[in-house]
Amino acid sequence: MKGDPRVTLALDEYLSFELTGHRQYLLHGATCRHWGFSRLADAQYAYSEEETTHAGRIMARILLLGATPSMRSRREIDARDTVARQLDYDRELVGEAIDHLRAAVGVCEQCSDYVSRDLLAEMLDDEELHLDWLRKQLSLIDRVGLQDYLQAQM
Ligand SMILES: [Fe+2]
Ligand SMILES: [Fe+2]
Repeated sequence: MKGDPRVTLALDEYLSFELTGHRQYLLHGATCRHWGFSRLADAQYAYSEEETTHAGRIMARILLLGATPSMRSRREIDARDTVARQLDYDRELVGEAIDHLRAAVGVCEQCSDYVSRDLLAEMLDDEELHLDWLRKQLSLIDRVGLQDYLQAQM
């Protein structure tokens, strides 16, 4: 089956966010575990796994449409030295991913590829929940203070 190249390009670009997220949250999870924040580490590992699942589904769709996933990263993964900086860095990535997803859903509609559109819309739902979780963590840090927040993450 041959897909519209505009759709496969949008899917492939979005894939780079998923692959970057997978690696970034894996690093943040491992770092949080190393610092002793096991609860936060578990949450980061779960998000890393969620992005792996998303990436696998996008790759399957790209292949079905007759293209090859390029497996690019969005950017280099730099370590962030505090929990608050990690969460803020994640919020930035998820925010960019959501902007890209919204545009990509539009591309799929223009090309009448409703299956790709629905797949991306499902991911948009997950990423909005992810962004909401990140905003809640950052607002908890503001409200209860970093020390109390971190105490609850051990
Ligand atoms: Fe994702
Ligand atoms: Fe996500």
